[in-house]
Amino acid sequence: MGKNFLAISELNRAEIVEILDLAKDLKQMQKQGEAHARLAGKTLAMIFQKPSTRTRISFEVGMFQLGGYALYLGPNDIQIGQRESIADVARTISRYVDVIMARLFGHEDIIELAGAAAVPVINGLTDLLHPCQIMADILTVYEKRESLDDLKVTYIGDGNNVANSWINLAARLPMTLALAVPEGYDPDPEILAAAKEANISDIQIYRDPVAASHNAHVLYTDVWASMGQEAEAEERKKVFRPFQVNTELVAVADSHCLIMHCLPAHRGEEITAEVIDGPQSIVFDEAENRLHVQKAIMVKLLGADKQVI
Ligand code: CP
Ligand code: NVA
Repeated sequence: MGKNFLAISELNRAEIVEILDLAKDLKQMQKQGEAHARLAGKTLAMIFQKPSTRTRISFEVGMFQLGGYALYLGPNDIQIGQRESIADVARTISRYVDVIMARLFGHEDIIELAGAAAVPVINGLTDLLHPCQIMADILTVYEKRESLDDLKVTYIGDGNNVANSWINLAARLPMTLALAVPEGYDPDPEILAAAKEANISDIQIYRDPVAASHNAHVLYTDVWASMGQEAEAEERKKVFRPFQVNTELVAVADSHCLIMHCLPAHRGEEITAEVIDGPQSIVFDEAENRLHVQKAIMVKLLGADKQVI
């Protein structure tokens, strides 16, 4: 694993599997009440330009469980890039903490932050990518199906940061990845081209959610308007209406299909209450796994995975 974790495309397949296995071990230790203070005395700075429930809480609690300390720096604290340059923030924070997690608007900003930071930087979501989320998602699928073989994932909705990170994962782990997105809302073309070039998975873009969902083992969706796109929300509701995950769509998927959503969800928009609150939904297992997988990522980045405690 390199110095930072900004994108799943930075990892190779073995590194992805190592993180998932370590996350499973750490999860078991936590569930059994076994001490696993692998990061005792270490400090995490969490920089947020956007709101968060899961990312903030899972990183903060995760660092505490690992014996370290996490400090929350909200949108009004550092005002990264406004009050001070991104590089100066990175250089300063690196003198105090051992690892940085940042949730920023521009992906180029997190690249700049990581470039100037002397300590590892973890991407807690940018407009382009949400890698920690998709690592938690694939851990959840791995646990539920007990295998990552012969997997078909269908992503329905906006070609956003979550969709882009699924494509990055499909460039490393073999799967069938079907993405049903309206015209004009496609995933990032460079990420898609690189994943197709990698030739690891069958990745297809559909305009018809039904055609994309046949025999899917996972039906995945996300909000129609991401953080920062609030002004487009009404227009997007019209465009995305045919892309709702509802019982009719679930009916064309595999009969054991898992329903996933990174949350927060808008019931009645991208997914019906019946489906997200139904028996096939695993959205809260998925949310929980943010904790376990991010603990594994921090332990790996800080080289504490081999440590005997
Ligand atoms: N899924 C996710 O990242 O949630 P938050 O925006 O609440 O952190
Ligand atoms: N695509 C969403 C994900 C939220 C976790 C957003 O960026 O707002």
